[in-house]
Amino acid sequence: EKAGFDHFMLKEIHEQPKAYRDTMRGRISEDGRSVVLPELKITAEQLKGINRVHIVACGTALHAGLVGKNVIENLVRIPVETDVASEYRYRSPIITPDTLVIVVSQSGETADTLAALREAQRCGARVLAITNVVGSSVAREADDVIITLAGPEIAVASTKAYSSQLIAFFLFGLYWAQTIGSKNESEVAHVLAAMQALPEQVEKVLAQAEVIKGVAESISHHSSLFFIGRGIDYAVAMEGSLKLKEISYIHSEAYAAGELKHGTLALIEEGTPVIALLTQEDVYEKMLSNIKETKARGADVLGIINEGHEVEVAKSVDRQFAIPRTLPLLTPALSVVPLQLLSYYASLALGHDVDKPRNLAKSVTVE
Ligand code: F6R
Repeated sequence: EKAGFDHFMLKEIHEQPKAYRDTMRGRISEDGRSVVLPELKITAEQLKGINRVHIVACGTALHAGLVGKNVIENLVRIPVETDVASEYRYRSPIITPDTLVIVVSQSGETADTLAALREAQRCGARVLAITNVVGSSVAREADDVIITLAGPEIAVASTKAYSSQLIAFFLFGLYWAQTIGSKNESEVAHVLAAMQALPEQVEKVLAQAEVIKGVAESISHHSSLFFIGRGIDYAVAMEGSLKLKEISYIHSEAYAAGELKHGTLALIEEGTPVIALLTQEDVYEKMLSNIKETKARGADVLGIINEGHEVEVAKSVDRQFAIPRTLPLLTPALSVVPLQLLSYYASLALGHDVDKPRNLAKSVTVE
């Protein structure tokens, strides 16, 4: 059942290239120049009338939504807010008829997400669901549904479902951009070509798993660490931190790198592990100076970097892991993979039950 892997989580991490291909299949035109989403009922006219977006979800699905916010704002230039589903419905969210609410849920059965969906519809918003389960409550009740084709996810810690949600956001963002013309055909084609390269690039990342295993074993001796990044890397840092807490029980915090010096830097001491994501070229120099701030306090830094930066980064970090080159917006689909492996191998090194972490359930159907 585990197809030769020791745990479902590791199997599911390795299934990501297939999950990406399956989620993209049939949704990119044959000439590779446009997105086709026949499952959407929302018309081009209706989509043109949307002026704001709320993305609502829980846990890992919310972290996919944080990437989704970056994707939609970048491609469509419409303001996007993200919210924790258990907070959303109790804070009288400002939902107008031109608001699109996007709920994200692997299982499609998360009680808080479902309640947020119902609240949004009650307030007159149209709801688009991104879910992995056909026929789930969320899929049945939403106005529009994009199914991720990650296949069944057994491990409690979500991996391939999260990354397939990213693919769904890329597709939907591009579809929206082509519909309203915020990106022209060649710009869309350019992103689609980069997306189609992702599965093979994930294979390359997976082939370097041993590097991450070594780092994981060393961090497993620590009781606290930090994940830092800027922009879309910060969103990925949050997912990396959640994954580590969830299955290794090691405390960690994700921080927007520029925010460290406003308090949290006080917690960095000799040997504190810091996982720094620096895949975004536009804030690359800023990240390097944030890394220096942590190193000056003794941090032991693992840099998640772009291929080609190895030599340059070597003097700023203690260890590094390079991901293949892609477009800045698409990097989360690659950079999350070493973080998934890091939490997997840390949990393994500590002898925990990787697939069934304490206190957690795969599907949270109570509020
Ligand atoms: C973490 C994890 C949870 C879920 C959350 C939402 O690895 O799996 O944080 O992401 O409980 O679940 P779904 O996506 O089923 O709504």
